[in-house]
Amino acid sequence: MDVLVVDHPLAQSRLTAMRDARTDSASFRAALHELTTMLVYEAARSFPVETYPVTTPVAPTDGFRLANPPLLVPVLRAGLGMADAALGLLPESSMGFVGLARDEVTFEPRAYMESLPTELAGIPVLVLDPMVATGGSLEHCCRLLADRGCTDITVLCVLAAPAGIERLERSGLPLRVVTAALDTALNDHRFIVPGLGDAGDRQFGGM
Ligand code: PRP
Repeated sequence: MDVLVVDHPLAQSRLTAMRDARTDSASFRAALHELTTMLVYEAARSFPVETYPVTTPVAPTDGFRLANPPLLVPVLRAGLGMADAALGLLPESSMGFVGLARDEVTFEPRAYMESLPTELAGIPVLVLDPMVATGGSLEHCCRLLADRGCTDITVLCVLAAPAGIERLERSGLPLRVVTAALDTALNDHRFIVPGLGDAGDRQFGGM
């Protein structure tokens, strides 16, 4: 499984703002928005393009556009904060939604919502979720996509823990990960260390 770490200075400065416990919700959401733009930009490097003719004010030339724009799938709640930035860079894209909440005792995901096309064969998917901790939530989401025929999944996240990356690797699902950082570990509550806390709570408040 390919893992791309976007260690660009601008990405790392936004990540640092998100890690800082003093950052308020509005600034956290702004940093996530900007960082997502950078992650999408890097993820899109490998997207195939097609040419088409355009005419400038001076002369005809070849233009480019994405040959197959991806379906965007934010994982609620925390992935919602990445949706607008991703759609801004990929305005041709459609969007699906998956709602998952991690059980505080078992740490396994509980699905409470899904709104996805029934057929995803031939459609690349960009999954948006800031955190890969145990990897359970992303594995669940990517399995939903693979069950619909998807064979090209890119997971965009802000932070990933080694255990989560290993779980996604073991899943055998057709995916790659684009992240701003690989953190060192999980604590007893399965929070990423050093991490940034709970990305859902920090954007939208505690439940
Ligand atoms: C967080 C996060 C991921 C998941 C990561 O969501 O946004 O979806 O946990 O943990 P995992 O890799 O161990 O599955 P959470 O369940 O807290 O829900 P929220 O987005 O509504 O806050």
